[in-house]
Amino acid sequence: MSTAKKEYKRVTVKTLVDMKARGEKISMLTAYDYTMAKIVDGAGVDVILVGDSASNVMAGYETTLPITLDQMIYHGSSVVRAANRALIVVDLPFGSYQSDPKEALRSAIRIMKESRAHSVKLEGGKEIKESIKRILNAGIPVMGHLGLTPQSIYKFGTYTVRAKEEEEAKRLIADAKMLERIGCYAIVLEKIPATLAKEVAESVNIPIIGIGAGPDVDGQVLVLHDMLGMTHEFHPRFLRRYLNLYDDMTSAIGQYVDDVKTQDFPNQEEKY
Ligand code: KIV
Repeated sequence: MSTAKKEYKRVTVKTLVDMKARGEKISMLTAYDYTMAKIVDGAGVDVILVGDSASNVMAGYETTLPITLDQMIYHGSSVVRAANRALIVVDLPFGSYQSDPKEALRSAIRIMKESRAHSVKLEGGKEIKESIKRILNAGIPVMGHLGLTPQSIYKFGTYTVRAKEEEEAKRLIADAKMLERIGCYAIVLEKIPATLAKEVAESVNIPIIGIGAGPDVDGQVLVLHDMLGMTHEFHPRFLRRYLNLYDDMTSAIGQYVDDVKTQDFPNQEEKY
């Protein structure tokens, strides 16, 4: 067997824009740690999002608001060490970019330098335009995020579908066009009507990656722990579970507990 390191062609922001141009769908999943990111990358996912959903699935908070910049950098650097092929995007957490463009740039620079990720993602439209421009001017690729933006959950009050009304839908289309114009390379659209997501995807040349945004966009993203069925108290309509790891892991761990208690483990072959 060859010991040569397998060479992968790294996915870049240009790769994603080219994929949209030729109609090839983009796969994106979250990951927050080395072991899971190695599996996700090895399975061929194009983009790994080190999402601030780490606040929920890794830290157990109810919302994404508590996670800190230092914690996002820790998760980001673990993922970067694992992935050879995927483009790695790290979320700027709540409180690290909203107060002014200089703070936004400082936070983005810390993520790029300390985690060595390839890009950052920020939630919002025209209200954070100047911050995004400043980050882009520093040469840092930015992915936008419109629709349901969980960092604003206390403003919305619920996690229901966004932009069902015409006024909000128009604002969202205008924000998407603005994000493209100033130089974002992709946009996540979360939990909006499929017809609106299709209209947005057709109105811009940069990839639109949907989560709960229907099939007529340029790619899809899910939270890894949800699609693997590790979380089981969350069942939005858009979530397809590919495994039921909550039950499988509970049963495996239960079996281990029994084996220890009954002294079945370790057996003769499992000792030195
Ligand atoms: O943090 C996250 O996981 C996200 C996805 C839901 C898009 O932003």
